[in-house]
Amino acid sequence: MNTHARNIHERRALLSRFGREFLGLHPPTPVRTLDGAGATRRKVYLDATATSLMPTPVWAALDRYFRLACANSHTHAHAAGRETTAAIERARELVGELVGWDPSVDVAIFTGNGATGAANLLAEALFPAPPTQGRDVVLVSKMEHHSNMLPWMRAVGRDRVRFIDTSPDGTLDQACYRRLLEAEGARVAVVAVTGVSNVTGIINPVHELARTAHRAGAEIVVDAAQAAPHVPLDMHPAGDPDGALDYVIVSGHKLYAPGSRGVLIGRRDVFHEDRVVGGVGGGAVDMVSTEEVRWKADVAAREEAGTPNIPGTIALGVVAGMLREIGMDLVREHEVALVDDALGRLSRVPGVVVYGSADTARVPRAGVIAFNVRDLPHGLVAAALWDYFAIAVRNDCFCAQPYVKEQLQLRPDVESSCASEAAACDVEHKPGMVRASFGVFTTRDDVAALDEALTFIAAHAGELRARYVRSAGGDFTHTGAADAPAFSIDDVVAGWAAGG
Ligand code: ALA
Repeated sequence: MNTHARNIHERRALLSRFGREFLGLHPPTPVRTLDGAGATRRKVYLDATATSLMPTPVWAALDRYFRLACANSHTHAHAAGRETTAAIERARELVGELVGWDPSVDVAIFTGNGATGAANLLAEALFPAPPTQGRDVVLVSKMEHHSNMLPWMRAVGRDRVRFIDTSPDGTLDQACYRRLLEAEGARVAVVAVTGVSNVTGIINPVHELARTAHRAGAEIVVDAAQAAPHVPLDMHPAGDPDGALDYVIVSGHKLYAPGSRGVLIGRRDVFHEDRVVGGVGGGAVDMVSTEEVRWKADVAAREEAGTPNIPGTIALGVVAGMLREIGMDLVREHEVALVDDALGRLSRVPGVVVYGSADTARVPRAGVIAFNVRDLPHGLVAAALWDYFAIAVRNDCFCAQPYVKEQLQLRPDVESSCASEAAACDVEHKPGMVRASFGVFTTRDDVAALDEALTFIAAHAGELRARYVRSAGGDFTHTGAADAPAFSIDDVVAGWAAGG
């Protein structure tokens, strides 16, 4: 567990300050209006689950790093190189501490491309070749993001993956989990579950799931891409060795650290010198000749060949350090109130259907809320939220297609919504949802803005429908003139070339 030297008042003040200090928060943004006059609104970013905004102090930290210590982490002949190496190693410790690692048994390995990179690395480490006997089965929950599903399907083969069902209320079907372990227990090597769903925000009881897995002799992998930004994590809860988490996966860009670092934290002893699973190359070796290669004994160094994503790693380390000072218990506390407020408000908007149980006392949820507006395609609702209200959300299936499809199919009222969507649009039926997701920068005013916008959209469905065209890919574009982009590389280059 993390420890906090500060008292609760200091920590609350830090959280409050942290939440206000983000780049890209609330800039005035031009929006459309139904009368065509147009207006300006403050931007509301409700897409933190896809990628979070960046804290201003992290930007300042990177500015300081690039001015004072920019170098290659494999150079040790000068101060900047040594400081870069030290910063990366400190980032490793801080991320480990954020998830409650035990550095005597666990390693933290930085990878590329968020959680996907870390899950692929682990799957390759645990299954160097498709297994043919022994513990050859992986249990994967149907709640998973594809990044904690496809690596296991590839590693052991589709026919050796068993899927844990979800219930109509969006939760993991624990009876199904126990049945699968009873039926396949001696064959199950790994149970792969998400800590927090990236669709419904439902929080899984990972320590309970771990105890059940361990009783069957299996290990547990927790995809914490969504859990780490929202809830306290503790890989090794005191007095509960069976509830320990064997592997945890973190994604930097979901955790306020741009650069998309993935991190695998877990048992060091599954990585071996005679079989490096990450890419091989510079930095991973002590000695290379044309006859022989001697790999580094240090697991992280060996598995992180090449010059790493240094800014992404430093950003992640700084964020992990800041969140440690605040305490994830307070981040969670802040979000519980927002989630309850949002679920209450959305349940009162006529035509809005929210997925997953809204009874948060029974089914705890983090700040991720997926919904549909009856009779409107999810793509149109998401587009209108941005175009008319400057509210940024995401739509579609969020890289969690099995879960999204199950949740849609389990609701007869939503099925009819999808059917009417298909009828109204002359393209292939495309199931999906709209998702609003929160970060520490999200406020009650943001939730109220979403409520206001959805009330308007539901009440003006016909007028809005007439103003959009749907592309072959399923995106909805307003028929009015497009705004100039706020950012483009060409504009930056042209401005620079013009001396601006
Ligand atoms: N698949 C990621 C999400 O949940 C990006 O939005």
